Amino acid sequence: MQADGSGDAAAPATVTEVRNERTDTRGERAPRSERKLSQLAGCYADPHAFNAALEQGDPVIYSVSSLEPASGDGDLHIGLGMVMPGKVGAEYHLTRGHLHSWREAAEIYIGLTGNGLMLLEGQDGADAAVPLTSNSIVYVPGHTAHRTVNIGTEPLTYLGIYPAKAGHDYAAIAQNNFRQVVIEQGGQPTVLQRKDWLETLRSNLELSVKE
Ligand SMILES: [Fe+2]
Repeated sequence: MQADGSGDAAAPATVTEVRNERTDTRGERAPRSERKLSQLAGCYADPHAFNAALEQGDPVIYSVSSLEPASGDGDLHIGLGMVMPGKVGAEYHLTRGHLHSWREAAEIYIGLTGNGLMLLEGQDGADAAVPLTSNSIVYVPGHTAHRTVNIGTEPLTYLGIYPAKAGHDYAAIAQNNFRQVVIEQGGQPTVLQRKDWLETLRSNLELSVKE
């Protein structure tokens, strides 16, 4: 990000220059973690497409810079996420997604750049896919698994702001994955039920074996 805020979409600002007398995080640069394609095994629906993509390389799919000034009651943590554009097979690049360890914890997402969708899946079975774009705000209620998907051609960047005590539970998602997938169909992002997409993939595979 340039000083004038114009910035380069491929290299968004890190969360920095937080002034907090109590925790003394002035000028702190948020630690950044990256997730490469190889670390997202099982996240994408099509294992054949996943293996084919890995044979072409192991790019960074997304990164998160997390600022955690303090972790007491009432404190907040901030994550700056960036999901790269692209697909594995027909499925758009995504984050692993998570529930909060403290299930009641909600979160606010603020879209900065790019064109994305957030998959929201409540433990009560309620599913939604909501736009995450520049200047949009998405409220993630408690007890709701959330995953970010880049359906555009530029990096998707956003802020996530959540209670310091929320915690991240990836294991529950790894077991069941999300019920929805975001697929390119006819050149358009389309949200499908995972079970329906898996059935389509199976049918296509059977057809290709017979041919
Ligand atoms: Fe979260």
